[in-house]
Amino acid sequence: MRLLLLAPPGAGKGTQARRLAQYYGIEDISTGALLRREVAGGTALGREATRYLDCGDLVPDELMLDMVVEAVTEADRKGGFVLDGYPRNLAQAEAAQQLARTHGIGIDGVVLLEVGQDELRRRLLRRGAGAESRSDDNIETIRHRLEVFESETRPLVAYFAARDLLIAVDGEQPVEQVTEDIVDRLAGRAVRP
Ligand code: AP5
Repeated sequence: MRLLLLAPPGAGKGTQARRLAQYYGIEDISTGALLRREVAGGTALGREATRYLDCGDLVPDELMLDMVVEAVTEADRKGGFVLDGYPRNLAQAEAAQQLARTHGIGIDGVVLLEVGQDELRRRLLRRGAGAESRSDDNIETIRHRLEVFESETRPLVAYFAARDLLIAVDGEQPVEQVTEDIVDRLAGRAVRP
């Protein structure tokens, strides 16, 4: 199983990626988590990425690609992946299609988690007030992350729908129900094991 997760900040990409990875026995790849690991490790990529992460802007495409290619091709060799957070703009979507063609990796579905803006803000502010808080979980940066999603990432909904890959799921339901809906919808498609 090879899946992409496409959804605004706070919609549950990370939560569902972990659950789907466990369900299908595949790798969970989060580009945000990979970047935060680079930042924590003080690598050159991490030092470059930190200012984008902290203000909620997208990290430049050229910094993302190598990291994604390495993680995805390795996970593909092990049997599949759920990729959370890539692509996030049309240039990245084209790069992902190219990567898929070059390495013979077919994508089985692109899951869109639909959650309203008020609920997204509530979730991120709640996380920001707790032990799991991230440097981008503050009101200003949350607002900007949501704007970036609408302007940069939202166009990918039509992009993947046109390629008959989009699976839209109500992400405001309880976590377990969201997973169940995704699994049911995927079962209805002709996907590889
Ligand atoms: P990333 O780490 O991907 O963050 P994000 O997109 O802002 O999304 P979040 O991780 O905040 O939310 P989520 O949708 O994963 O939801 P979660 O499961 O955590 O990216 C961070 C930054 O990295 C970007 O801003 C950018 O700078 C950079 N970056 C990453 N990828 C990039 C790329 N491809 N190109 C360029 N730059 C890139 O859940 C959120 C909260 O809600 C949690 O508290 C959770 O417990 C709760 N929750 C989840 N599901 C439910 C539910 N069903 N009901 C109630 N609560 C729920």
